[in-house]
Amino acid sequence: MGPGRAEFSFVLNGTPVTVAGAAPQTSLLDYVRSRGLTGAKEGCAEGECGACAVLLVSPAAAPSGTQGGSVYRSVNSCLVPLPAVADCEVFTVEGLAECGRLADAQRAMAEHNGSQCGYCTPGFVVSMFAEHYRPGRGTPDVHALGGNLCRCTGYRPIRDALFSLGTPPEGVFLDRLNNSAPERNPLHYRTSQGRFSRPQSLAECLQLAAEDPDAKLVAGNTDLGVVTNLRGQRCVHLISLENVPELLEFSDGPDFIEIGAGLTLTDIGEYWRDAPPVFREWLPLFASVLIRNRATLGGNLATASPIGDSAPMLLALNAAVRIAGMPGERIVPLQDFFRGYRQTALERGEILRAVRIPKPLPTVSRFYKAAKRTLDDISTVAACFSVTHNDDKRITSARIAFGGVAAVPLSALEAEQLLAGTFGEPEVIAQVKASLRRTLRPIGDHRGSAEYRLALTQSLFDKFWHEQFSEVSA
Ligand SMILES: Cc1cc2nc3c(=O)[nH]c(=O)nc-3n(C[C@H](O)[C@H](O)[C@H](O)COP(=O)(O)OP(=O)(O)OC[C@H]3O[C@@H](n4cnc5c(N)ncnc54)[C@H](O)[C@@H]3O)c2cc1C
Ligand code: FES
Ligand code: FES
Repeated sequence: MGPGRAEFSFVLNGTPVTVAGAAPQTSLLDYVRSRGLTGAKEGCAEGECGACAVLLVSPAAAPSGTQGGSVYRSVNSCLVPLPAVADCEVFTVEGLAECGRLADAQRAMAEHNGSQCGYCTPGFVVSMFAEHYRPGRGTPDVHALGGNLCRCTGYRPIRDALFSLGTPPEGVFLDRLNNSAPERNPLHYRTSQGRFSRPQSLAECLQLAAEDPDAKLVAGNTDLGVVTNLRGQRCVHLISLENVPELLEFSDGPDFIEIGAGLTLTDIGEYWRDAPPVFREWLPLFASVLIRNRATLGGNLATASPIGDSAPMLLALNAAVRIAGMPGERIVPLQDFFRGYRQTALERGEILRAVRIPKPLPTVSRFYKAAKRTLDDISTVAACFSVTHNDDKRITSARIAFGGVAAVPLSALEAEQLLAGTFGEPEVIAQVKASLRRTLRPIGDHRGSAEYRLALTQSLFDKFWHEQFSEVSA
């Protein structure tokens, strides 16, 4: 066995624990349950039910009010590789009672009859606890529980429990938020069953990837973890991007906004305080809080799912990606990034460093997601439309982007050109829709037939046009 240690430590419910020899692909859920902490349950093993929710003490993003402090982030422990929590602080539902006194979220669930069989209850309590202690929480956000499913109680008593919570009580849990989150040290964990590396710089990360052709990058593991859990895929060497500072930068400059590929969606929501409305309507439609607390923008683009939600929005914002490799960096327009089904312009050993959104932003952008459920569901078709126009409303440029209508997320270039230079007169809109009908070739699957998807591209465009410019096209 080469360099690396076969053990690491973290703090579990306030007590330091050392993990020795566990396979790097072991989930945090399996580990806590193996220690007798069986509150967290396995319902689905793919991030859909929230029965496995636990809390991570995470750094508060700078603008969230508790600068230098911490926040409790609820995550699906079935999708957290155990070594990813090395040096971290983790709470399971068993650790939330303080000196024998139930946490408010626990008591509220009992008092409001929020539990019947109880399978889902620990997960709900964990999500509710994180929401209760969310810095700057005004009114409770019921969507904080959106990633938790209950199959017997019904959601009203659970919602009542959440809404009954006042300000969090004084005590160790509140005090903890004033102190910084634990620092994560470099990690080179190696057992006979594989490796887990957590480099501390982009250069180290690229070096590790160059040295080991079998290595696989991992960020939030919300895509990769599903493959690990449900298809039994085992990566022999995971290189974690969670501690690579270059991937965690966010900047809003005069020429572009640059979003680090390793930032979680929750972090981006915190950092990008004056994000355009299109981002604010897109974010809550992406999975659940539990998933967004881990999922990264880089992971969403690199996985190149044709129904990934970030690509249509970023295509409509004319974004480009910043790719880092051993020889240096390159900028690739996002519309050239997707090369085929699940294929991207990333060469072996390259890392998506950031996403760049040029300024000025379009005058108007809207995102639409057609799915079987409004929230926490996978898109059948996702669409994002952007228009830039002059003061007199003449369109200078348009972006029309879709997910779910081809093997890759794409821009409808012909339709975009038809709009440019016009006022979006009714005959132009008819031509745009005819162009979408003619140029797009969706495939059908269990989420929607090809005909349905094609019809959606036009009706979503109609919806956008009607909502934004109805007085022009009426
Ligand atoms: C329950 C559930 C709901 C979901 N809902 C949605 C949804 O509504 N919309 C949606 O679009 N997706 C959804 N997803 C998919 C997933 O959450 C997203 O694709 C997420 O953004 C992936 O990010 P990650 O950091 O977890 O990626 P990971 O799983 O860590 O990695 C995914 C892939 O990207 C590669 N990778 C990661 N980061 C980089 C990088 N910086 N450079 C190069 N390669 C990299 C990895 O090697 C891996 O191949 C959902 C997933 C689950 C489990
Ligand atoms: S077991 Fe269902 S989300 Fe983890
Ligand atoms: S109480 Fe039974 S699943 Fe929620």
